[in-house]
Formats: sequence, structure tokens, C-alpha cells
Amino acid sequence: MVKLQSFLMLSLAATALAAPSWWEQWSLGKKTNRVAHDEDRRLVQTSDQKAPFWTSEAERLDMLRNNVNYMDITDYMDLGTSLKPLGKKPLPKTAVHQNKVARYVDQLSTANMEIALTKFTSFNTRYYKSETGFESAKWLYKQISDLIEETDAESDISIRKFDHPWKQFSIIARFEGKNESLSNSPVIVGAHQDSVNMWLPQWGRSPGADDDGSGTVTILEVFRALVNTGFRPNRPVEFHWYSAEEAGLLGSQAVAQSYEKKGVDVLAMIQNDMTGYVGTKFAESYGIVVDYVDDELTELVRVFARTYGDIPVRETKCGYACSDHASWAKAGYRSAFAIEGDFSDSSPYIHTSNDDVSHINFNHMKQFAKLALGFAVELGHFKGEI
Ligand SMILES: *[C@@H]1O[C@H](CO)[C@@H](O)[C@H](O)[C@H]1NC(C)=O
Repeated sequence: MVKLQSFLMLSLAATALAAPSWWEQWSLGKKTNRVAHDEDRRLVQTSDQKAPFWTSEAERLDMLRNNVNYMDITDYMDLGTSLKPLGKKPLPKTAVHQNKVARYVDQLSTANMEIALTKFTSFNTRYYKSETGFESAKWLYKQISDLIEETDAESDISIRKFDHPWKQFSIIARFEGKNESLSNSPVIVGAHQDSVNMWLPQWGRSPGADDDGSGTVTILEVFRALVNTGFRPNRPVEFHWYSAEEAGLLGSQAVAQSYEKKGVDVLAMIQNDMTGYVGTKFAESYGIVVDYVDDELTELVRVFARTYGDIPVRETKCGYACSDHASWAKAGYRSAFAIEGDFSDSSPYIHTSNDDVSHINFNHMKQFAKLALGFAVELGHFKGEI
């Protein structure tokens, strides 16, 4: 009762002090009937059919709790509007590097993944605006840099921080390709590093073991296997760990927008978001997302899954803007998305303090590591055209 009263008084005070001017009301849009005491108004999109609309932080939190996916397009209005679309390039139709991939697969270790995920989930939260989210990004950056420094292979590998207007940076690690003329046409393997507790986003405990510690560690292990075995592709292969996926795909939109502006001709991107939970409704499988993705690339991902994995493929849908592949699709590039199983059978613990390592199956994660390895090696070696 006390709480409610003081909340009401605060709201009233805020209304009186910060009554929006006519143009603020206009720009907020007619549909917003909440008190405009939220400074952090953002323009979001929840579907291709529906016009973007302005939201308060409280409204976005409601969307998170109700599993309404959105893209926060406030700062990325021109994503996908480049005047000279690069067009999509032909892809291979089959897997041809079984011998090479087998060598890298031998390097994959579930024990490594368990150690990394246990550490990664020990940060209180990896919320993109939090201090611990910044600390977790620095920890991840160090793991990747150490792998690069320790190798004596002759591969040309680099790492960089992609800074954002919030604390947690995104990370990009890159293997250069042998063929210089393909240097502007990378292959991208992605995951997101941030986590969120939907009840208390700023401070709430959010181990984010499955979402998306699992994808982060899956591709970290793939990266490790490639570094240790002297991977030298034809074209660049990049590993991306995005910040702020949970806040409307902010990190991946920023990265995709910068690539689009520079005219980078990305061949293909695959997202790994939730690779560690085996559901109870269906047999263990790869969930291959078939909505809001590139059909041809998705068909190829199915081929790679059949070639390099040991579990069946299940087609599934996850709706508009459900992960970072959507940012690449919007920018006009080919992207695909592999998830732990049927979307309806995915982890019930995500966005809560219960999304911890105890619900993770590391053998399942290894299946996704094999798929990501197949993707990186097959497409990295693909000669293709410029
Ligand atoms: C490099 O790639 C281009 C474009 O696909 C191709 O024409 C050229 O033959 C390649 N060079 C080598 C050395 O493979």
C-alpha cells in the first residue's frame, strides 16, 4: 500500500514537472497513453506489417516479459537502405571439405566449454548497460586474445572491440583469407554475449547460461579449434559476439550498419542463440529456423547439419526479429539461424535467474559447434565469385 501510494505520487509529480510539449506528444505518437516520465523513449518495430512506434522503457520491459520480439530502430533507421544494394552471391550446394572439418572436430572439447560457460555465467548479469556486463565482455575479449597470442600457426588472425554508446562492447575476431580478392566478402559466425533478467534488468541475477552463454561458448570453442589447427581459409571468416541483443538487437544492428555503409559484401552469416538445452517434447535435434532467414543459405545449413552433425534437423519458426541474424537480413545480407530444437521446446528458464549451467547439455552444444565448424570451413574455403 505504501509502495503504491508513493508510486502514484511520484507519477503525479513527474507528470506535473515533465508534462510533454505538443511536439513531444506528437512524436510519441497517439497510441502512447502512459505518463511520459520516461526519458528513454525508443522507436521499435515488432513486425514487417506494422509501422514502428515509440515506447517507454516500461513498455519495452512488458514486451520482454511477454516474449514480444522487437528491433529498436531508433539509431538504425537507415539499416538496409543503401542506395547500391550489393546483391546476394551464389552459394555452394554441397559440403566438400569433410576431411578438413574432421580434423577441427577432433579438437572440440565439452570440458573446455563447461569451464568457459561456468566462468561466463558467474558474472551477476551480462546486461548490456551494467558494470558486470562490461566486465564479462572484457573477460571474453581476453580469452579470445590469449588464444590468438598463444598460437604459433601462421594464420593471420585479429581481434577488435566494436564500441557502442553503452558500456558493453561487441567483439569481432577475424581470420584473414588467402585470396586477397575475396577480402571484402567475409563469412560470419555470430552469437550474443549479453543476458537479461526480465524482472530486474539492471541488477537481477542473470546467468544467461543458455541465452546466450551457450552460443557464445559454442563459437568460442569453434574459434579455438580453428586457431589451434592453423585454419587458413580462402576468404575472411569472422566470429562476432554481439552486445545488447536483448535490448532490441542493438549491437548487431550497429555492426551490420557499419558493414553496409562500408560496402562490405558479406557472403553469409549464421547466428547461434541458445544451443545448450535439450527440450522434453521432441527428440534431440537441430532447430533450423525457416522464417525471416535466407532460404538458400538455410537449405545449405541443413546440408551442413546432416553432413557434420549426429542429430536430426527440425524445421522451426521463431517470429520477427528473434535474434541477431535479423539485423543482417535487414541490411540485405544472407543470414540463417540454428537453435537448440523446436522453438516451442526451447529452454523455459531464459531471462530468469534459473538460466544456469545445471540445465545445459554440453554434448548438445558440441553438435552446434560441429555445425558452426562446417559452416566456417565450407564457406571460408568457398572460392565463389567477387
Ligand atoms: C581468388 O578469387 C577470385 C574470385 O573468385 C578468383 O577469380 C581467383 O582465381 C582466386 N585466386 C586464387 C589464387 O585462387
